[in-house]
Amino acid sequence: MRKKIAAGNWKMNKTYDDAMGLATTIGNAKVPEDVTVILGVPYIYLKEINEITKENRGVYVSAQNVHQEESGAYTGEISAPMLKSIGIPYVIIGHSERREYNCETPEVLKKKVRIALDNNLDVIFCCGESLEVRKKNEHEIYVKNQIEKSIAGLSSEDMKKLTIAYEPIWAIGTGETATPAQAQAMHKAIRDYLKELFGEKIADETAILYGGSVKPSNAVEIFGQVDVDGGLVGGASMDPDSFLKIIHSF
Ligand code: 13P
Repeated sequence: MRKKIAAGNWKMNKTYDDAMGLATTIGNAKVPEDVTVILGVPYIYLKEINEITKENRGVYVSAQNVHQEESGAYTGEISAPMLKSIGIPYVIIGHSERREYNCETPEVLKKKVRIALDNNLDVIFCCGESLEVRKKNEHEIYVKNQIEKSIAGLSSEDMKKLTIAYEPIWAIGTGETATPAQAQAMHKAIRDYLKELFGEKIADETAILYGGSVKPSNAVEIFGQVDVDGGLVGGASMDPDSFLKIIHSF
């Protein structure tokens, strides 16, 4: 049985009081026993929100990024050993915004995935194509290539700690969602590719999340697709009512 996951990505939003308020609401909420809830919050709130969410079985905190080196002269960066040292369970790696604005290449992402796993962090690895790529009908090959370049060499043990988030860039923050059929087709293609790379068992066990304008109004239908195991949610994860509805959409 694959995990069902409702993950939020707050990106660079929420000042301290609002962040603690939102985390407390979600942290105290009753979540379905079979759903894993993850809050991807800004670095400076990680430790405190981890303390809040640790009280609630089923709710976890995630970093939104990690540096690819162990330590050193990288001003302003945060390392995997640092996240480990304060007990952070998850990290999001390879979000399209970081690929674009922080020039994160597949090679750098491969290092980030490696160092995160080596420090016992669970990884949510993001992939997804631009509108330009989708229009050329090259989305499958594009996403497979992203997966190949950053996670292909992982072991079966590593893969047990990895979740994939398929987030088509044209659906992020645009209000335009992939149709359930488009999401299912891409998730199936990703799962088939995981089978090629890692074998049937790993492919069957790896959770693949959809991201891109997930809302309470579309979550049930999207999460209902056979190869969609949940969502990575931006905007709607920062409104407690919306996110709780999404958590209950499986
Ligand atoms: P939105 O849900 O705001 O479209 O953001 C999706 C996303 O980028 C989550 O990582």
